[in-house]
Amino acid sequence: MIFTGHKTYIDITISITWILHFLYLDPMLKPFVVTLGLCVLGMCLILDLYGADVKITLAPSLRAVDATGQELQRPNFIHPVEGEWELNRTALSELRSRLKPLETAQNFVLSQDSLATKRRLPLMFGKKPYYVKDKDKDSTPEISPFINRTLGVCSLVGNSGILTGSKCGQKIDSGDFVIRFNMPPVCSPYLDDIGRRTDLVTTSRGRMNSKWGLLKSRTGQEKFLHHLHDQYGEDTFVVSAPFTIRRDIEVLLSISELLQSSNSSVVPLYISPIHVRQTLQAWRDLGLNLKGRINFSSGFYYTSVALELCDQVNIYGFWPFRTDREGRPVRYHYYKSVDNGGLSNSWHAMDKEFEKLLQLHNLGVLQLINGNCR
Ligand SMILES: *[C@@H]1O[C@H](CO)[C@@H](O)[C@H](O)[C@H]1NC(C)=O
Ligand SMILES: *[C@@H]1O[C@H](CO)[C@@H](O)[C@H](O)[C@H]1NC(C)=O
Ligand SMILES: *[C@@H]1O[C@H](CO)[C@@H](O)[C@H](O)[C@H]1NC(C)=O
Ligand SMILES: *[C@@H]1O[C@H](CO)[C@@H](O)[C@H](O)[C@H]1NC(C)=O
Repeated sequence: MIFTGHKTYIDITISITWILHFLYLDPMLKPFVVTLGLCVLGMCLILDLYGADVKITLAPSLRAVDATGQELQRPNFIHPVEGEWELNRTALSELRSRLKPLETAQNFVLSQDSLATKRRLPLMFGKKPYYVKDKDKDSTPEISPFINRTLGVCSLVGNSGILTGSKCGQKIDSGDFVIRFNMPPVCSPYLDDIGRRTDLVTTSRGRMNSKWGLLKSRTGQEKFLHHLHDQYGEDTFVVSAPFTIRRDIEVLLSISELLQSSNSSVVPLYISPIHVRQTLQAWRDLGLNLKGRINFSSGFYYTSVALELCDQVNIYGFWPFRTDREGRPVRYHYYKSVDNGGLSNSWHAMDKEFEKLLQLHNLGVLQLINGNCR
């Protein structure tokens, strides 16, 4: 294991990245979250405005550096190709026993069963809880579809540009259950690299807004249904987190109404904010230091879920660096050329999370695949 850890990078220049930090709209929650930041001498003062709430964070600039202060442009700390990695069942079951109290199979998505006794949901961001209405309750399944079921070998597929040219498609599809994030395109010309199958896909208000106009028009709704059926298949789970901020609730819950009224067999599911909070705490207890930051990236959250529901977790397309192992530039997403987010996304402690994932990889708990598959 050659990974040497992170140190705050002391920097007296104000680079282009910092200037971009001064004012940008968070890509996920646009236009309701405004992030203002000033980074100087390796520290950033970050002001996040969401709805009526304000969050002020003083954080080290999110640059990963090695022990000598060199920026980790060319991280060479993971095995370049699979083959050397071996699953350590003992280590995996030790971790699972730490996560067991979360009862993820039962609690990670809301169900009529769980809502029968608990109607008051705390929002991830926001002071007042949300009282679940009967209509909302009816848009959830009777019981969680993950109870008493193992998902087998799971492929978690992030959207990093590291997938471009990887030829990992076949390997991804050879898993028993394929999870993708934020409604990415699963179509030509990407299939060789990313695979075709999707068993579960996540979505967010930001994505529903930028691609389907929040499902307000008939055209938006039809395009959304077409995207689901055409790119993922008929029985996919589409999962979202409506109880993050109040503004997200309506559009995300309306997905299930739309699917019902169009007789779609796609299954809408909603993450329980209670489970997200408990999972955050569990990982803090396991040494994931998210001080000053209040949320996971969905990549890390679903990794935690998969570690409990799957026999083996193989992760593709998670790569928070701007260059690959050979120093070639990596795009933020495999499917578009705009470069934003990653380490400069102040919402997610990508560096901390990635370090944790690497530890788990090295322990044989999960497999991070960042090289080419063939
Ligand atoms: C597997 O993990 C256990 C517990 O974490 C450790 O004691 C053991 O040495 C590991 N086995 C291998 C082959 O690395
Ligand atoms: C799950 O399995 C347990 C033990 O076999 C059983 O008692 C329970 O009814 C099952 N639950 C569901 C929802 O199938
Ligand atoms: C859905 O199914 C119902 C009952 O089978 C039918 O009356 C309705 O027209 C269908 N709706 C659509 C959009 O296909
Ligand atoms: C918070 O985390 C949940 C679960 O990962 C995610 O779905 C949601 O979008 C996150 N919210 C923000 C504001 O990042």
